[in-house]
Amino acid sequence: MAKVTFKSALHQDKSSYAVAGSHKQTILQLARENHIPIDFGCENGECGTCLVKVTTLDQTRPMGGPLNPRETAVLKEMGKISQSQIDQMLVDDIPPSPWRLACQMILRDEDVLVEYPSE
Ligand code: FES
Repeated sequence: MAKVTFKSALHQDKSSYAVAGSHKQTILQLARENHIPIDFGCENGECGTCLVKVTTLDQTRPMGGPLNPRETAVLKEMGKISQSQIDQMLVDDIPPSPWRLACQMILRDEDVLVEYPSE
């Protein structure tokens, strides 16, 4: 079972457990279920409002697969990933940077720290 810790400068840290093996629960869904105030808009990987920083705490290779095309395009437009990182992602088959869209990242069976903006 994945332990997900949400962290923000303005809120107390909170840990929650993602459903093991659901393969469809996103960071944003888990946050909303636990009243974590991550901003969001489209919920479809198009607006970038739900930008978060995700760090794997297991000291292992991140389990998430490559970003989907919408998330890739938005993160590139926001300057959070470069074209060379995108090219490398397609070779390595892992996310290229800690920046993710909470509405697009599916939680895997790994412990992660999710840092979200505090405005
Ligand atoms: Fe719009 Fe996540 S809510 S990209």
